[in-house]
Amino acid sequence: MSAHGPTIPMTSHPCGALTGEAEVPGDKSISHRALILGALSVGETRITGLLEGQDVLDTAKAMRAFGATVINDGPGAWTVQGVGVGGFAEPDQVIDCGNSGTGVRLIMGAMATSPIAATFTGDASLNKRPMARITDPLALFGAASHGRSGGRLPLTLVGAADPVPVRYTTPVPSAQVKSAVLLAGLNAPGQTVVIEKEATRDHTERMLEGFGAEITTDETDEGRVITLTGQPELKPQDITVPRDPSSAAFPVCAALIVPGSDVLVPGIGLNPTRAGLFYTLQEMGADLTFENMREEGGEPVADLRARYSPEMKGIAVPPERAASMIDEYPILSVVAAFAEGQTVMKGVKELRVKESDRIEAMATGLRAAGVTVEDGPDWWTVTGSPKRGNEGGVTGGVTCASHLDHRIAMSFLILGMAADQPVSVDDGGPIATSFPIFEPLMSGLGADLRRTEEVAA
Ligand code: S3P
Repeated sequence: MSAHGPTIPMTSHPCGALTGEAEVPGDKSISHRALILGALSVGETRITGLLEGQDVLDTAKAMRAFGATVINDGPGAWTVQGVGVGGFAEPDQVIDCGNSGTGVRLIMGAMATSPIAATFTGDASLNKRPMARITDPLALFGAASHGRSGGRLPLTLVGAADPVPVRYTTPVPSAQVKSAVLLAGLNAPGQTVVIEKEATRDHTERMLEGFGAEITTDETDEGRVITLTGQPELKPQDITVPRDPSSAAFPVCAALIVPGSDVLVPGIGLNPTRAGLFYTLQEMGADLTFENMREEGGEPVADLRARYSPEMKGIAVPPERAASMIDEYPILSVVAAFAEGQTVMKGVKELRVKESDRIEAMATGLRAAGVTVEDGPDWWTVTGSPKRGNEGGVTGGVTCASHLDHRIAMSFLILGMAADQPVSVDDGGPIATSFPIFEPLMSGLGADLRRTEEVAA
């Protein structure tokens, strides 16, 4: 079962050239934050381009449960009447965050310094994921949590009645941990400081500044030191959500591996804390260009043009780049299967605690499809070949488990577009969490995606 819907077995058949324009939906990370910060400000925040994927819809529902008024005014257009920092009401229902680690972790942070209790749950994937990385720093503010073993969901969080500010060094490179601490720091008096050794996505910092909080970031020998002054009055904003680079990755990578393809993906956010995949692909020799570079809402934005690239070579991806492309390793491994030689991905143990163990999930499916993959606790390698048909390469002809993980499902469906034989996934339902228009968008470019029931009929 998917988070909120039926199981949807899907098959991707080898297809002809992918061509045309791919308008991918709004950024998931920014969409969650727009709703949460809107709920914590005083007055009406207006959002356009919100991702209407299930993860974000679950966050919208949660914000209503905490007392904000959240209204959908049309496609991608939403308004949030906030309750102000410290104004959250105690929900009278369990908060179900579905599949979303970002949703539950940021919301826990946002409520942790208010004198209310809330119980959080999610789907089978989310309820397996580690939450101590959030509840440990929230305890320093004075919040108490009661969860299952290992701090897992379902979990009840009791917010601090008299929160104290915190100085916290994140033990793992995680924007979710950083953001949870900063959101908790909003309702603590004085200055909350988060130190991260490696830069992770900085949307929370940028947006907090936009909402009027006093927040600074200093690059020091310790790492990035982010200082937030607590108890601001956040001012409502008009937010235009840029298109999601993590969703753009799928049509871009598909175009690189399907012969004859030429695809334009317009208006993609190229925030340096998110754009690592695109630089990696260029280093592999991909015909990927950034056109019409511009700035929108304080973020670098470009139109991405990707053309079939039969000359790509495997590379060693710099480990220090991992945080800026952490969600893109599954689809990179698919591209690596069609690049000559070995692609080495190190320093990626966080991949093992995403919506699924993404190294294990991809390695199993890729091996079954004829690709050589090796892996260890925090690394993996993919040995690829651009050869087609009888010459070897990616045979396909397999059904892969998506493990309730949208990015695993989409990655294997892209694999099927360029493999010798079709590739199926047991459940494409989770794709709706982040990229609800994936099927029509990819089909519009020329992909041959079928829901398996339709094939059988
Ligand atoms: C996200 C941060 C990343 C990423 C996730 C979205 C965010 O997780 O994998 O999809 O919006 O902050 P971690 O912060 O746990 O690495």
